[in-house]
Amino acid sequence: MDLSGSFSIILGLLVPILQEPFRQILKRIPGTMDWKIERTNKNLGGRLDEIVEKRMNDRKRSSKDFLSLILNARESKAVSENVFTPEYISAVTYEHLLAGSATTSFTLSSVVYLVAAHPEVEKKLLEEIDGFGSIDHIPTSQDLHDKFPYLDQVIKEAMRIYIVSPLVARETSNEVEIGGYLLPKGTWVWLALGVLAKDPKNFPEPEKFKPERFDPNCEEMKRRHPYAFIPFGIGPRACIGQKFSIQEIKLSLIHLYRKYLFRHSPNMENPLELEYGIVLNFKHGVKLRAIKRTLRSC
Ligand code: HEM
Repeated sequence: MDLSGSFSIILGLLVPILQEPFRQILKRIPGTMDWKIERTNKNLGGRLDEIVEKRMNDRKRSSKDFLSLILNARESKAVSENVFTPEYISAVTYEHLLAGSATTSFTLSSVVYLVAAHPEVEKKLLEEIDGFGSIDHIPTSQDLHDKFPYLDQVIKEAMRIYIVSPLVARETSNEVEIGGYLLPKGTWVWLALGVLAKDPKNFPEPEKFKPERFDPNCEEMKRRHPYAFIPFGIGPRACIGQKFSIQEIKLSLIHLYRKYLFRHSPNMENPLELEYGIVLNFKHGVKLRAIKRTLRSC
């Protein structure tokens, strides 16, 4: 087992000033975790640069994905080329890939998995989605914000049950007192978002999937501390992709539920096994049966 990654982290916790030089040394020693991370980053970065360059040179770009939209905006001069430089575009692509895809896809899986086991939630959700309009009526971002309150509650509750980033870290920039503890400058503080989200004081019967607890009119919601549920972190370093990912998740779910219902597959293990990494994951995915819905008139 290679503990070099953990060594640099543990060293960083004990003597923060030594962490970076130590990491720089480990990066040069083949086989260590820091070496592997450096190599993977280089490979991934290089591959992404290739994709961006290929797409930039593709004059007949027809796809409407995020990368194409940025490149189109750059070429239409709607945004200055000095803003969307090739380095910037590669960085944004990298960020979306690393910070934005595993988090969003895990949340989508959690919602579909939980809703499949709660017919009363599914019924209410389908009523809301079907009530919005016909299948070809695509919601605008304002519609996503205003017209799907129950979907919003379902997503929040799924994110509470399976919190994507159970831990986030901060380093104190000055000496600070928190809850009677004096933390010197440079102390690492771990925020256990996953533990907060299961606190029965804020979420009675925390293991139960109850989207209605996020109904703004419900007493439980009114009583709750505003920071009890912070799946995107908090403060100036909170997730920059929060609004984007919520829109993406809502739109994907609307499209899915307009056409399909989902049921747990008999091949799925019960309970689901979780894998704790930088983000939470289902160890073996979620296995579902997709059932095509019959055509609706509205
Ligand atoms: C369900 C989806 C997502 C969840 C739950 C999530 C969660 C988080 C959390 C907990 C943090 C740490 C915040 C903190 O330290 O206070 C974070 C940071 C970040 N997220 Fe997300 N994220 C999601 C989607 C995205 C997407 C789609 C993007 C990019 C398009 C993104 C980009 C980032 C970036 C760049 C940071 C670092 C911000 C900084 O350090 O200033 N995330 N995210």
